[in-house]
Amino acid sequence: MNVYDSDRMTDVLARDGYDAVETAEDADLIVLNTCHIREKAAEKVYSEVGRLRPLKEAAKEEGRRVEIAIAGCVAQAEGEEIIRRAPIVDVVIGPQSYHRLGAALARARAGGAAVETEFPSEDKFDHIPSRARARSGLAANPAAFLTVQEGCDKFCTFCVVPYTRGGEFSRPVAKILAEARRLVGSGVREIMLLGQNVNAYHGEAEDGSDWSLARLVLELADIDGLERIRYTTSHPRDMADDLIAAHRDCDKLMPYLHLPVQSGSDKILAAMNRRHGREEYFRLVDRLREARPDLALSGDFIVGFPGESEDDFAATMDLVARVGYASAYSFKYSPRPGTPAAEREQVDEAVKSERLQRLQALLSEQQTRFNAAMQGRVIDVLLEKPGRRPGQLVGRSPFLQAVHVDAPAHLIGEIVSVKVDEIGANSLFASQMSPPLERLSA
Ligand code: 5AD
Ligand code: SF4
Repeated sequence: MNVYDSDRMTDVLARDGYDAVETAEDADLIVLNTCHIREKAAEKVYSEVGRLRPLKEAAKEEGRRVEIAIAGCVAQAEGEEIIRRAPIVDVVIGPQSYHRLGAALARARAGGAAVETEFPSEDKFDHIPSRARARSGLAANPAAFLTVQEGCDKFCTFCVVPYTRGGEFSRPVAKILAEARRLVGSGVREIMLLGQNVNAYHGEAEDGSDWSLARLVLELADIDGLERIRYTTSHPRDMADDLIAAHRDCDKLMPYLHLPVQSGSDKILAAMNRRHGREEYFRLVDRLREARPDLALSGDFIVGFPGESEDDFAATMDLVARVGYASAYSFKYSPRPGTPAAEREQVDEAVKSERLQRLQALLSEQQTRFNAAMQGRVIDVLLEKPGRRPGQLVGRSPFLQAVHVDAPAHLIGEIVSVKVDEIGANSLFASQMSPPLERLSA
């Protein structure tokens, strides 16, 4: 989501005459977009600002003004504190206010720093101009993000999102469809629908009815030229019947689902306020796999949540073993100020580290097995960009694996069938099968 947000800020700034540059040294304005989901995010921001100080001072000596803006959830959470601790920062702007970035910069220029951490009543998406990328003709990447939903009302006891991103909000259907059509018009072939709780999506359609995520996906699937649809990230509670059915009925919906469970212990799930149990999760996974047998699952896990015993952790290991993940993210619990779990008695750091190691060993073994099963298979890859070696392109498999393919650059943006020859540590290597080059380049 921060990648998407950074792109939208680029659009806002493009309207005001800014161009993107490659390095901080060349910039008149430096925006740090930040994440606050786990610890140390704020400290990282302060040390990064410290690194930028000489740049700002050197520019001043040359008579040039360099501005620094802190955006994202650290900005939202820290607010004025950032200016107090790092007075060289000009603008602090929370994720709901990006459309006000230009005005905030103007205020900072007129004197003093500008802090924008309100949750304005207007919709920021209404004020963010259509993409610079679309204007420039071709999309930078044939796989694009599109935010459909933001915020969260779930209040898991470990999580800052409901505080930093605010309550659940779904963008209206018409705006999403228009943005999707624009993207496809600029060459986009794959759209990843984004939301902190994307499957809780319930956007208003033009006839006033409420659309679910499944309804939205089916409508998007009707757009000619859009070949692949994904969505992330989902909550098990919101995995509605129609969405499960869409995995069965909609070929454009890719067979990959990020469905975080966080823990395999019912006691810990309750303490986390997840509002689902492990058996419910197993049932859900069964139903999803019934609908789409080749569905690859991914998840998020937290180890060392307050109160997690060795038995609770064993339940997580057991859940992972039973479900089988194609990939997953796992973290040590990190107390976030202002969240309920931060106040509870904490698990020893060494215990957390040891559990994380065991969990990651199991998850990485599963990922290796999942990738190894691709050996010799023919799969479709959307070629996205040049690879590391000349003559090589990189794209994604339906299961979101990175695939390196020997193919000419004009095939970027095409979906090609490839045969997987080799399995790397983090990606697959493949040779192109079809369609034939002549047809594609014609
Ligand atoms: N500590 C550790 N991990 C966390 N996550 C969210 N909050 C915390 C926290 N306080 C993880 C969850 C979530 C992912 C985005 O980050 O697993 O799904
Ligand atoms: Fe955070 Fe996700 Fe829980 Fe919402 S559902 S509070 S975003 S972990």
